[in-house]
Amino acid sequence: MSEELLHDLRLHRTQEERAKQNFVKELRSYVLNDMADAMRKRYEDRIKPAFEAITGHPPEDGMDVHKVMKEDAFFKFYSSFRYNAQEMVWRSVMPTLERNIDILKERAAELGEREIGGTLRLDPDLEVPRNVTEIDVHLAPGGYHSETVSDDLTAGALYDNGLQVFSFGLMGRNLDDIGWSMAQYVRNKYPHFKPERILDAGCGVGHNSLPWAESFPQAEVHAVDVAAPLLRYAHARAQSLGIPVHFAQMDATKLQFEDESFDLVFSSMFLHELSLKQIRSFIAEARRVLKPGGLLLNMELPPNNQMDPYDSFYLDWDCYYNNEPYYKGFRDQDYKELCVQAGFDPEHYVQFISPQYTYMKPEEYRAAIGVEGAIDRNTGRLANGIQWFGFGAWK
Ligand SMILES: C[S@@+](CC[C@H](N)C(=O)[O-])C[C@H]1O[C@@H](n2cnc3c(N)ncnc32)[C@H](O)[C@@H]1O
Repeated sequence: MSEELLHDLRLHRTQEERAKQNFVKELRSYVLNDMADAMRKRYEDRIKPAFEAITGHPPEDGMDVHKVMKEDAFFKFYSSFRYNAQEMVWRSVMPTLERNIDILKERAAELGEREIGGTLRLDPDLEVPRNVTEIDVHLAPGGYHSETVSDDLTAGALYDNGLQVFSFGLMGRNLDDIGWSMAQYVRNKYPHFKPERILDAGCGVGHNSLPWAESFPQAEVHAVDVAAPLLRYAHARAQSLGIPVHFAQMDATKLQFEDESFDLVFSSMFLHELSLKQIRSFIAEARRVLKPGGLLLNMELPPNNQMDPYDSFYLDWDCYYNNEPYYKGFRDQDYKELCVQAGFDPEHYVQFISPQYTYMKPEEYRAAIGVEGAIDRNTGRLANGIQWFGFGAWK
């Protein structure tokens, strides 16, 4: 796994910055693999039996597990460690960015001139919704939208460089394994489906938008987000990688596209950052802009109603301790019901698990998705053996 970002917005890091970032990666891997495994064992061996002895029944859901774990010294230790490691992710990359703000802007301007075919459309009048402006989501200072200089791309650079540290090698060479896994799932599972217009909603810096353009080269790919600094970065990054994508600043709950204008609407790691009202509006909007026969596909965290109580508790950690207040509210939903409420036919609901495409040979991937995978403790959990969860519906 390369330690460097593989595009021209890569910034020079001093030896000390590299060392700090590598330390944080290792620390996070230790917390999310080793400490997490030890904590689960402690729960199975001691905490769960103690709960059963008192109540006469096992914990019924993640809330039950959280209630008892909150009293446990190891859980407190784990949470403090994980919270601090999260803050260290951002702190470890910020000095590099602060030193390079002007260089970043210059490079983005140069990359914007390249004849790749991609575009960037910002909307200075857009009202950025409160789920973005009021929260520093996952403790990232300034959140997604803050700007301190003209044409600022720092929030995008923070996200890209931060994710490289945060994901400790589990999200692909270009931090794009989710996009590749979802696009290749669709390509291999539905070989007759040939989308001509694809939309990625809540695209961030476009990590998972570009694999759609690469997997379906005949398609016109659009990607929208509310945060201008992310989109400036996304556009420059796509230009650098030579992949044409049309980025636009837009609220995905109020899409500025015609009815029935897309074959595929995709989102990744997006819904769990929205209020329930916004989730409902987005799914209804996605259905509106889909052509008949089109597909809505969301890569997301798996739902609580399909996981055992401990795994529900474990995944919902971010809701309580990582500034992701909508996380559990989303995971508590019945995903099929969300699609049906937005007008999709329940018969046309789809749900699946995908292994990590960019870590396998294509033929191994094809064989793996031929077998219907079940949700297990590795689904959506950032740790060795992770697999991705997808759901949506055909219109
Ligand atoms: C966790 S990031 C996911 C980014 C990207 N999809 C990925 O997989 O890397 C969530 C993104 O949703 C965006 N977002 C939040 N609310 C939005 C809305 N109402 N419309 C469009 N984008 C929104 C945020 O700005 C952020 O970039």
